[in-house]
Amino acid sequence: MDYRRMGRTGLELSVLSYGSWVTFHKQVDDTLADELMGIAYDSGINFFDNAEVYALGESEKLMGRVLKRKNWDRTSYTVSSKAYFGWRGKNNKPNQTGLSRKHLVEACNEALQRLQLDYLDLFFCHRPDTNVPIAEVVWTMNHLIQQGKILYWGTSQWSAAEIMEAHRAAQEYKLIGPAMEQPQYNMFERFKMEQDYLPVFQNAGLGTTIWSPLAAGFLTGKYNNGIPEGSRLAIEGFDWLKERWVQDEKIKKVKQLAVLSKNLNVSLASLAIAWTIHNPNVTTAILGATRKEQLSENLKALEVVKVLSPDIIEEIEKILQNKPRLDLA
Ligand SMILES: NC(=O)c1ccc[n+]([C@@H]2O[C@H](COP(=O)([O-])OP(=O)(O)OC[C@H]3O[C@@H](n4cnc5c(N)ncnc54)[C@H](OP(=O)(O)O)[C@@H]3O)[C@@H](O)[C@H]2O)c1
Repeated sequence: MDYRRMGRTGLELSVLSYGSWVTFHKQVDDTLADELMGIAYDSGINFFDNAEVYALGESEKLMGRVLKRKNWDRTSYTVSSKAYFGWRGKNNKPNQTGLSRKHLVEACNEALQRLQLDYLDLFFCHRPDTNVPIAEVVWTMNHLIQQGKILYWGTSQWSAAEIMEAHRAAQEYKLIGPAMEQPQYNMFERFKMEQDYLPVFQNAGLGTTIWSPLAAGFLTGKYNNGIPEGSRLAIEGFDWLKERWVQDEKIKKVKQLAVLSKNLNVSLASLAIAWTIHNPNVTTAILGATRKEQLSENLKALEVVKVLSPDIIEEIEKILQNKPRLDLA
């Protein structure tokens, strides 16, 4: 496994990592989670991603039970949580969501309890919150760092302008600014990583823990001919993902990518993941997997990235036809 430094920090994250959105508690039980996290850790993965909202807190509890059982050296891995959406779903009351000082502090304490940990390595603001002054967010995160409850803080799905605003506030008050962002990044979702954040990478430095490298599984080709039973898009409440991804024009491109991957003698899943980590601004690509075979297949991206020559990247661009135009930025 390769390790990349997270932005301008000293923290080294494995270039592939493992997350639990949708999967833990809904599709993956304790036994399977134990096996999947075991495969991940044994392969060199040192970052496990979670959030208060995943399975309404149950995902963190499950991951906490596995970590407790595994009893790995705490210094050998990193864990995250994210706050914003709350964990009570429809029953969320005022102050149980968002980025106020009250919710961030309570969400952090609750995540630590659910995960059975003394500190979070990474703590994310899961979305921007225009109702909270940015200085309040930065002061709160700095406070949690000073208390030793979190080591690094970051954002998820913020714009470059919002991230720079946080840096400005951090500079003004001499506080610790955001070290990382967690944006969606895959062959069909490129704007933030390849256009919007470029000045932030250059000027402030920014680690990125990118999500949905397979577009929720769509980039494996499994949805080319309908929705297979037992797959993510067949789960009740996740039909919005079908609208998001399963479109004729995209399926056409996935089929062309499948031909390319076949010619390269690699799986489409590993090619799509390799393509994300080929971008040096990606610190780590968070894998999701509901089966051991999926995880093993996806880990092969570490080898596939080595065959991504400029010619192959060009072939992929010809298929995708969606490279952000920097001259229009
Ligand atoms: N910050 C945020 O807002 C945010 C949002 C989303 C995710 N995330 C993080 O990013 C992580 C990864 O996102 P993601 O789960 O959407 O990643 P993904 O890699 O795009 O999708 C993973 C899903 O695709 C299917 N899959 C994976 N490998 C496969 C293979 N080789 N063959 C066939 N199907 C395969 C599995 O679903 P099925 O088996 O069910 O079909 C798996 O759960 C999450 O766990 C979470 O930690 C963060």
